[in-house]
This record gives sequence, C-alpha cells and structure tokens, in this order.
Amino acid sequence: MTARTDLAAHLASLDLPQGLVATLMTAAAACVEIRQVVAGGALVGALGASGAVNVQDEEQKKLDVIADDLLTEALLACPAVAGVASEEKDTVQPSANAAGEYLVLFDPLDGSSNIDINAPVGTIVSVLKAPSAQPSEADFLQSGRQQVAALYAVYAGQAMLVLTTGKGVAGFTLAPDGRWLMTHEDIRIPADTKEFAINMSNQRHWAESVQRYVDGCLKGADGPRGKNFNMRWVAAMVADVHRILMRGGVFLYPWDKREPNKPGKLRLMYEGNPMSFLVEQAGGKSATDGKQAIMDVIPTELHQRVPVVLGSANEVDQIAAA
Ligand code: F6P
Ligand code: MN
Repeated sequence: MTARTDLAAHLASLDLPQGLVATLMTAAAACVEIRQVVAGGALVGALGASGAVNVQDEEQKKLDVIADDLLTEALLACPAVAGVASEEKDTVQPSANAAGEYLVLFDPLDGSSNIDINAPVGTIVSVLKAPSAQPSEADFLQSGRQQVAALYAVYAGQAMLVLTTGKGVAGFTLAPDGRWLMTHEDIRIPADTKEFAINMSNQRHWAESVQRYVDGCLKGADGPRGKNFNMRWVAAMVADVHRILMRGGVFLYPWDKREPNKPGKLRLMYEGNPMSFLVEQAGGKSATDGKQAIMDVIPTELHQRVPVVLGSANEVDQIAAA
C-alpha cells in the first residue's frame, strides 16, 4: 500500500495551535469508536430506540445516546476543551479544564433514521474559540465565520473523515489499524452540477421559489435549464453533503409550511455551520433560502434551526435567483 499521511501528521503540517490539534485528534478518535459501534449494529445492541425524546422532540435512538456519550466524555477529558454542546442535550456542558480554549458543538449521530436499515450515518463537529474557560451558553452563540475547524465522519462502505481548519478540505479513510489516512488531499466541489438532493415528499409544503427551482430541474432538457438532472436523497445530511464534496451537486432542506414558525429542519450550530465551512472551503457555496450565507447568520439560540441550501456554487446561485 502507498505510504499515506495520517491525520496527526496532516494536522502537524498545518501549523495549528497545539490545543486545536488535541481537540481535533480527540474528536477524530471518538469517531473511530462510534464507527466501531455502528459496524457492530445488532451484535453490540446499537439498534433501536432508546425510549427517550431529545430537546428537539425527536425520538432518540440508542446509537444517538451512545455516540453522544462517547464524544462528550472524550472531549470533556481533553484539556484543551472548555465546553461542549450537543444536539442531544438541552444545555451546554462546560468542562472542568481551567486551561480550556475551545468550544466543540456536535451532532453525534446524523441521519438517525438510517441506523436500523444499515444505511449511511455520520457525526458532525464544529469548533469555536472559547471566550472564557468557564463558558456559558452565550459564549457558544458565535456565527459560523468564527469557526476554527469543522469536520464530519461518514460511516458508510468506508468510514471517512473530512476536515477543514480554514486551509482547504482534506479527506481521510479509516485504516484497519484505527488511523485516519489521507486519501483525498484537496477536495474541490465543481461549480456546475446536474444533481440535486431534496426530500421530494415535502414538495407541496415548499415556498414558491423552491417549487420553481425544482420544477425547472424536473423539466430537464425540455425546460428552462436546458439539461437533464439526477436526484439523490440519502436522508442523512452528512452522506448527502459527502456526495457533494466528492462529485458536486446541491442539497436543500428549505423552510416549509409544515411548521411555518420554524425556519427549517436542520440546526445552525452543529449542522448548517460546520457543513457550510467545509463546503465553502472546497469552493462551493451555502445559503439560507435567500441570499445570506449560512455562516453569516447571527445565532440567538443553541438549537436554532436554519433553512439550508449548499453545494456547487452556480447551482446555489440558481436557487437564490429562482
Ligand atoms: O439531522 C436531521 C436529518 O437526519 C438530516 O441528516 C437529514 O438530511 C434529514 O434529517 C432527513 O430528513 P427527512 O426526514 O426529511 O428525510
Ligand atoms: Mn443531524
């Protein structure tokens, strides 16, 4: 096998603060543990419901809880971490580390509806600087532009970890020895695409502009776009965004009329922002339904929702203009 750079060597080459390297290595190691539980499935009691409901009023799966515990425990034990926030927990959790410098926000197990059918799931992580060593919730409410790193792990045929620290995007594949080895050195998203991802079953609930955009795609070569489109929907954001980083495309989870007072389904702080950071660093674009970049949204709540459009730059522009 070719000698490959592992994650530790890659991070060392980026000249990052030591605390950030430690934080990222800790998150990456927790993802290896989560991968092992995902791979064990029914053999390790990882399938099915936990019996509880999370802060989003969603039924928690056992794996949601297991993944949350693994990440939380590992990160709070990392001296560089001042606190964590999770999709699965109502409130932020400050660490006991007096010298903690970073805040870590995460969706421990994205795509929970895929767990029991052995389809791709993942973990999404966003890292911010901690304004103080004893952070409050307000300290976590920083815009996506303040992120110092973002990563996701996708647990599919291969487990892959995709990372940015603001200097491009690199992809790593989990090797049998438990190391993340670089397999995708400088991921770039093509500006143009013929592939879109949206949950079509919500069509009747979308805003007019989203209806117009998707209608144009569906009309294909006979419609205003003059080209045929393909549609993909894995139902795990992490896997849909991974496809976009690998070959382009656009992902939409827009506002819809089902819950008109909520801005969308996905969460800003640990879904929209880290994925937008990765997509922008790979040359793509992100937007709320309008023209505002997701990372420019000023957060007001930890579990705030946001409409999400992201992917190939020209396609995101098409949606904004629809
Ligand atoms: O985290 C929420 C999530 O699981 C995303 O990963 C995914 O894109 C979406 O929900 C799927 O939603 P739906 O139920 O509409 O398919
Ligand atoms: Mn999620």
